[in-house]
Amino acid sequence: MDNTIQFELNGKQQEIQVDPGLKLLWVLRNHFGLTGTKFGCGIGFCKACTVMMDNTHVPSCQVPVGQINGKKILTIEGLAQNGSLHPIQEAFMKHDAFQCGFCTPGMIMNAYGFLQKSPSPNHEDIIRAMDNNLCRCGAHVRIVEAVAEAATKMKGGSQS
Ligand code: FES
Ligand code: FES
Repeated sequence: MDNTIQFELNGKQQEIQVDPGLKLLWVLRNHFGLTGTKFGCGIGFCKACTVMMDNTHVPSCQVPVGQINGKKILTIEGLAQNGSLHPIQEAFMKHDAFQCGFCTPGMIMNAYGFLQKSPSPNHEDIIRAMDNNLCRCGAHVRIVEAVAEAATKMKGGSQS
């Protein structure tokens, strides 16, 4: 049976009628057309589907949409502000931190959640934080460089 779910999506209040057991990933992609959030494994392993739920980054393929009632969801589409890319997005572009790009939205949202909680990470912290996000193209070295640069920029107060 469908439930009414109210939540904030990329800064805008939303209300939908949906099976509360449906996973957030499919609501984002199919209901809202936000296809930046990727389906990789569907079992919580690859993290291609990472989004922010309140202050935590979560694999959206594992989150029943019934759990997001009253929460704030931020996806890759909501990261740029006023036409300007977020510093993490800029750093990924500058460092060519992707090849096919399939893992990139999940990588960026994971980095975003990580840097909210750890604004001054060292190299090992970044490797540990990004390690569970899989990249089949092997861009991890450039991804770590990009996250390090984004951390420095964000501490400078350009954007958070
Ligand atoms: S698609 Fe969600 S963790 Fe792989
Ligand atoms: S850039 Fe292709 S999977 Fe990471």
